[in-house]
Amino acid sequence: MKTQRDRFSGKIGYVLAVAGSAVGLGNIWRFPYLAAKYGGGMFLLVYLILMLTFGYALIVSETALGRMTQKSPIGAFLTFGKSRGHRFGGWINAIIPMLIVPYYSVIGGWVLKYLFEYLRGNVQELAADSYFTGFTSSATEMELWFLLFAVLVFAVIFAGVKKGVEMISKIMMPLLVVLAVIVAIYSVTRPGAMAGVKYFLIPDLENFSWMTVVAAMGQMFYSLSIAMGILYTYGSYMKKDIDIEASTKQVELFDTGIAVLAGLMVIPAVFAFSGGDAAALQAGPSLMFITLPKVFASMGFGTGAGILFFLLVLFAALTSAISLMESCVSTFVDQTGWSRRRSTGVMVVVMVVLGSASALGFNILGFVRIFGMSILDFFDFLTNSVMMPIAALATCALILKVVGLSNIAKEVQISSAFKRRNMYNFCMKYIAPVFLVIILLSSIANVLGWITM
Ligand code: PFF
Repeated sequence: MKTQRDRFSGKIGYVLAVAGSAVGLGNIWRFPYLAAKYGGGMFLLVYLILMLTFGYALIVSETALGRMTQKSPIGAFLTFGKSRGHRFGGWINAIIPMLIVPYYSVIGGWVLKYLFEYLRGNVQELAADSYFTGFTSSATEMELWFLLFAVLVFAVIFAGVKKGVEMISKIMMPLLVVLAVIVAIYSVTRPGAMAGVKYFLIPDLENFSWMTVVAAMGQMFYSLSIAMGILYTYGSYMKKDIDIEASTKQVELFDTGIAVLAGLMVIPAVFAFSGGDAAALQAGPSLMFITLPKVFASMGFGTGAGILFFLLVLFAALTSAISLMESCVSTFVDQTGWSRRRSTGVMVVVMVVLGSASALGFNILGFVRIFGMSILDFFDFLTNSVMMPIAALATCALILKVVGLSNIAKEVQISSAFKRRNMYNFCMKYIAPVFLVIILLSSIANVLGWITM
């Protein structure tokens, strides 16, 4: 048992650590392809509204609960009661990262592979239309790169170089921003790219569908690391004098800024290189790996840009994957009393089994379709559209039924004016529960084919 909990050194340390976990593949890889697929400007608008209301309320809730109880999610729920409901609420928050980290590492493997190819100078080959599908259809390649990424993650976890990761984050994150700005400017100034800028930034009601809301909500959880226990844990490491409201705003600003930049890198490029072909926008998870290489190939310093870009994405992915893995390992350590070694060992098994299934789902396990989805898509859907709304509902229920909104306010007010208290209360009481239930039911109905969205 730890006698003294680790602490973040101060506000900057806290914001950077949360931002390091938040900014990852979700921003650079997932956000642009979802925005492209689910309505461009309409998706962006819905996303922003959800983030500023719902997302804000949930981040404040989880952080305050973590700081109040000084525990990770399972312990936090159990602090307020020992019933089945409490156990369920804690565990669902804690299990989600265990299901995400394996498929996250498969995508991390793709990033590693592309970095390697850029280092070899294969800038033209990577820009070919069939390159990505050629790569994913090779079982050996997919498994190899996934395992390499997984080894990197575990190496850091074993070595416990958390401090080092934080230090490098401080250098890499600003670099990522600078590079993203350069690539975005290049991308939006390509001939034909303006149509893409408009599609991404200007909402058009015609592009609205219920699926826009479902996808935007899932993405918001994913990108801000909400509803997966991580913010409870981080809140528990937070000193009482750090302003929860202000730091939440900063994290949201940073995370959304990077996502919008990534959208500006990828979506206009799709228009420029496909001549406005709408089908290209539906490419899904492969979008970043198909479109950006074309941008790089057409740039004067394409190899250098490709190397730098994938290096930075790799870094963002690694810091996020490490924080996901850290939270899985510490759940086992706290709840089972296993050693850190044994807990990590269990996660190695989970990682290899589930990650390999996702990687091989593109080739030898290609015949496996779960509700019409590939294995990787299924895990993404299961966690984001089904489990996260349930986890967020559990947090809402804990606050509304047990802890009480006024106690959350007390915790927040220790170090903050809590100017948005009324908005917070309104979101938690009315918007969040109703919305979460609707989202959950419609994702399930969609997958079962009862409704098409
Ligand atoms: N928020 C990360 C991203 O957008 O890539 C994903 C993530 C990382 C979620 C770490 C949760 C977490 F603990």
